[in-house]
Amino acid sequence: MADHVRTLPVISSAALAADSHAIFARYRPSYPFVALDTGGYVVLRHDDVARLLSDPGLQATGAAMPVQAGITEGALYDIFDHGMLTANGEQHGHRRAGVSRALAHETLSQFREHLAKAARAVLAQYQNAGRLELVSEYAEKLPVIALASLLQLPEQDFPRFFDDVYKMNAFFRPNPSEDAVAEAEAAGLRLRAYLDGRLTAASVGHSDSFLSRYMSNAEQDGLTRIETLIQLIQLIIGGTESVRTALVAQTVQLLSHPTAWKAVCADKSLLASAVSESLRLEPGIAGVVRVSVQDIELDGWTLPAGQLVILSFLSALRDERIFNQPHVFDLARSNLHLARLAFGGGAHKCVAEAMGRAELEEGLAALVECLPDLQLDSRPAFQGHMFVRDTSECWVTYGH
Ligand code: HEM
Repeated sequence: MADHVRTLPVISSAALAADSHAIFARYRPSYPFVALDTGGYVVLRHDDVARLLSDPGLQATGAAMPVQAGITEGALYDIFDHGMLTANGEQHGHRRAGVSRALAHETLSQFREHLAKAARAVLAQYQNAGRLELVSEYAEKLPVIALASLLQLPEQDFPRFFDDVYKMNAFFRPNPSEDAVAEAEAAGLRLRAYLDGRLTAASVGHSDSFLSRYMSNAEQDGLTRIETLIQLIQLIIGGTESVRTALVAQTVQLLSHPTAWKAVCADKSLLASAVSESLRLEPGIAGVVRVSVQDIELDGWTLPAGQLVILSFLSALRDERIFNQPHVFDLARSNLHLARLAFGGGAHKCVAEAMGRAELEEGLAALVECLPDLQLDSRPAFQGHMFVRDTSECWVTYGH
């Protein structure tokens, strides 16, 4: 290893967990990346992160992550072994194509309409309560409602589906406990069996649904049954935690800036900017993890081959080289389109960005319309600096 690599700052994971934004802001002006005390590196700057998302020198991690956690088989292991997110090259394209084509046929306006109604129905249950725990009573529900609608699940299956999705997802959150991992494995197995049944029903029904289109794409593309199922599971994983955290973060951002909240209440055309600027400041996914298969030069420094590398959106989206006053919430930024980085880039770029944005915009629109006098009662903490981010409770009040 070259001398200059050894002089890179080594960041403790505990310090990062305590305040990732402050740590990244301290090192980003002087270093293109930092080392982690737990091993691996974090790339900090916007242009490097955007470029490296398409660099063949960085590869998806396959099943390395569960193996590192001592998991070598089972429902959770299969998600990594057979999924698109962790695959590379042709295998990745092969697994992604059927989902991508099936999603392209979805009518976004219908999806939005359904979501708008569902979000208002959730809020109506709390209309007279005067307070709401935003994470569990709102933000956690919308993305699962959206998926249930995409997959056309029968209403009587919702409670079980909700429960299993969130139990399985616990595995992907920062630092899951042993019990949570065991529950996630059991929930993953149940979900797989359930989706297997839905796929069979869709192929018999021959309706023009997302599932029947996806099923026939998967057959055409020669996906195995387990691959076919696991891409659906990845849609669930990709489409829940990221949306939940971003829904909470955008509400907190706006309520912390009452002028911006009032502006969005008065002018719905600002919803899209509010979503983008919130994703820039607190992205639903902290970053993506890759492994370096060759040395990579960045600004005179060498990122060595054979290392875990986090391409950090948390850092890149506050890069002072790109964004003026990067820590300030500003709906009128001229380069807000660069916040699209929150959805990734390159071959793995979010396969459902349009759906994700629709969920965030409709989720915000319903709050603004139903509870315009909303106020923040307790500020949540966001955790996680690698992939999925978690959020603690967030109480909001209204009608006082
Ligand atoms: C706030 C909303 C969302 C954000 C911020 C987000 C972010 C991302 C990011 C950063 C990636 C790239 C991962 C990587 O390169 O390793 C990604 C991929 C993916 N996302 Fe999203 N996402 C969102 C919503 C959704 C939704 C609603 C779905 C499904 C319904 C979804 C499904 C997926 C899937 C399946 C992948 C893997 C794509 C691949 O590996 O080719 N995401 N997402």
